[in-house]
Amino acid sequence: LAKIEVSLKDIPEGRNLTVKWRGKPVFVRHRTAEEIASDDVHPSLLRHCEDTSDRTVKPEWLVVVGICTHLGCIPISHAGEYGGFFCPCHGSHYDSLGRIRRGPAPLNLEVPLYEFVDESTIVVG
Ligand code: FES
Repeated sequence: LAKIEVSLKDIPEGRNLTVKWRGKPVFVRHRTAEEIASDDVHPSLLRHCEDTSDRTVKPEWLVVVGICTHLGCIPISHAGEYGGFFCPCHGSHYDSLGRIRRGPAPLNLEVPLYEFVDESTIVVG
């Protein structure tokens, strides 16, 4: 399917839902206040520097393609040194915004096109 609708109602804070979109896993993560509070990081600590505001539409929701930007493994949610995502293939650590923080991956996890169609529903694609 070119577009998929995802209901956010059943994703409690601190949890991650994996959905399939165009054959790829997409992570929909309900971020905690603590995670949001740790978004501000000095740019020198970020390998792939992007505006924080470009990573989310609403800070409590992260939507990213669940494919490691190193060689394409599927990272594990809520794991790794930064508590975001951890790719066990070669040890890439992403933070809760899906930004690469340590390990061989060159880029942040990709944010797909998506939009909110109401308070608790997004359409990806
Ligand atoms: Fe993820 Fe290599 S594929 S670290």
